[in-house]
Amino acid sequence: HRVAVVVPAAGRGERLGPGAPKALRELGGLPLLAHAVHTLLAAPSVDVIVIAAPPSPEGVAEVHRLLSGLADLAEAAGHRADTRVVPGGATRQESVALALAALPEDCTTVLVHDAARALTPVDLVEAVIGAVHGGAAAVIPVLPVADTVKAVEGDLVTATVDRSGLRAVQTPQGFTRELLAKAHAAADPAAPATDDAGLVEALGLPVRTVPGHAEAFKITTPFDLVLAEAVLRRRR
Ligand code: C5P
Repeated sequence: HRVAVVVPAAGRGERLGPGAPKALRELGGLPLLAHAVHTLLAAPSVDVIVIAAPPSPEGVAEVHRLLSGLADLAEAAGHRADTRVVPGGATRQESVALALAALPEDCTTVLVHDAARALTPVDLVEAVIGAVHGGAAAVIPVLPVADTVKAVEGDLVTATVDRSGLRAVQTPQGFTRELLAKAHAAADPAAPATDDAGLVEALGLPVRTVPGHAEAFKITTPFDLVLAEAVLRRRR
């Protein structure tokens, strides 16, 4: 009963501005994906890591290079997770589906974790795995929403949403393999979901929450990179 983590890393990262695919942009001298994989290698409960790479031949080759660069580090630290690479797809949902198709048979728990959440703490990964092993078939890390949130049409406000009942959602999201496979099989590729739990909700099945972590934020904009550099400096 092994634990696998699927890492969608095929996004172009257009909101970061022109440059390499987002997962291969550098943070503190290493690609975002290397930070994310390093954390997963350090998580004691993770057995297998499947990365959906930027689909170009260069993207796939770059991810293989990055993994061999991490291999020595991982071995020295006694980390033993297997890593696999598949070319990603046109949407995040498709990238996850392609990685799921490459999972070893004996992985019964599957997490999905954005490469862009490069600074996610190991403890959060372990908490999500613990919740799945504790009996929750679908688990997501969440944080309260700090800002007031309003609905708009054009530039006109139509409503203020009660934020006390809202949560911002992070990854890793954890699932039994059976449920995640079923959710992806029922998904509509023409209307892709922005997270995997959304596909479980679409089946009418429950999704449980665990407390998220501020440092699991998604690096999306140039500002996020500045923030990430500061978090990294404080850690080092
Ligand atoms: O675009 P967004 O920020 O939601 O992307 C979240 C994660 O999904 C990123 O790690 C990105 O690399 C990945 N992704 C992917 N395949 C795509 C689009 C995004 O693996 N086609």
